[in-house]
Amino acid sequence: MIKFDNLSDETPYRIFREKYEDSLKANQKIIEAICISSFSSKNKEVNARFVNLKIIKDKEFIFFSNYESPKSQDFISHDQITALIYWNSTNVQIRMKAKIQKTSRDFNIEYFAKRDKKKNALAVSSNQSNKIDSYENVHANYEKSLHEDNLEKCPEYWGGYSFVPYYFEFWEGHESRLNKREVYEIKNNEWDYFILQP
Ligand SMILES: Cc1cc2nc3c(=O)[nH]c(=O)nc-3n(C[C@H](O)[C@H](O)[C@H](O)COP(=O)(O)O)c2cc1C
Repeated sequence: MIKFDNLSDETPYRIFREKYEDSLKANQKIIEAICISSFSSKNKEVNARFVNLKIIKDKEFIFFSNYESPKSQDFISHDQITALIYWNSTNVQIRMKAKIQKTSRDFNIEYFAKRDKKKNALAVSSNQSNKIDSYENVHANYEKSLHEDNLEKCPEYWGGYSFVPYYFEFWEGHESRLNKREVYEIKNNEWDYFILQP
């Protein structure tokens, strides 16, 4: 479930929430998954991965990750991302474009302290995306962390990322293939609205 915290009442945020509620009602199982595409200006490579969208606070979309992972290196080299959601229960795709930044250390500390300790053990014990000799060692590192680490203390290398979209595209699939595509894009500090051909 995504937590809506004092959500902005601007039109694209209202539509986002409506589509979220409709998808939940239609039994959408995986509703937090959001694909974040990044670009490394260092490696000249585009990359993408799913994360879980946990909070939308006013206009900020927030997920959590390892600050030393490849995605984090990408965000340092180039802070532009595209985020993509697909909810199959309603056949809706939402595309967003934004600049990305870290959430504050205080926010991370507070959030981490309230999280499930098993999740925290994984966050603490994993050098995310680094190579490791065996899956047994993944288990061993996790168990060690679960029993030995202070799992209320947020490590420096873990925390949130936040982005405020300047572009939303709501795609609605229709049986007729006359799919509906509505875009909201910030132009001169206001939301410009237009529709795209399918
Ligand atoms: C549905 C789903 C949700 C995921 N949620 C997260 C998440 O919230 N944070 C995270 O760091 N990785 C999450 N992952 C794992 C990432 O896709 C990815 O494997 C990992 O973050 C390493 O990415 P990177 O090497 O590009 O940094 C999720 C994977 C899936 C399939």
